[in-house]
Amino acid sequence: MFTRKIKWYRIGAKSDLLVEIPPNKPKAYSIAGKNIILCKTEDGELTALIDKCPHQGKRLSDGWCEENKVVCPYHRYSFDLKTGLGSGTGIDVFPLSEREGGLYVGINRWVWF
Ligand code: FES
Repeated sequence: MFTRKIKWYRIGAKSDLLVEIPPNKPKAYSIAGKNIILCKTEDGELTALIDKCPHQGKRLSDGWCEENKVVCPYHRYSFDLKTGLGSGTGIDVFPLSEREGGLYVGINRWVWF
């Protein structure tokens, strides 16, 4: 039987990520088969969202961040960095957890039990 379970994947040391990720540009990662962006909010918090615009499926990592939103460069749809809501729809937001050894992103997976 299958059930959904969050699996946690290490991205890196939080202190390094806070330096590497600029306040106005998403950074792309491929984790467990998903394209994800890490963004930094205006108050310096990191967030993780799917790297796919719901409008025409373009990469949000090609866009930029402003006013706590990620903006798709193709038709300017924008999505809240914390909730993923915006432009009449929404995008997936992934939980982040700081643990011993770094910052982890949680991805919901089907697992056999
Ligand atoms: S593809 Fe992103 S707004 Fe159109």
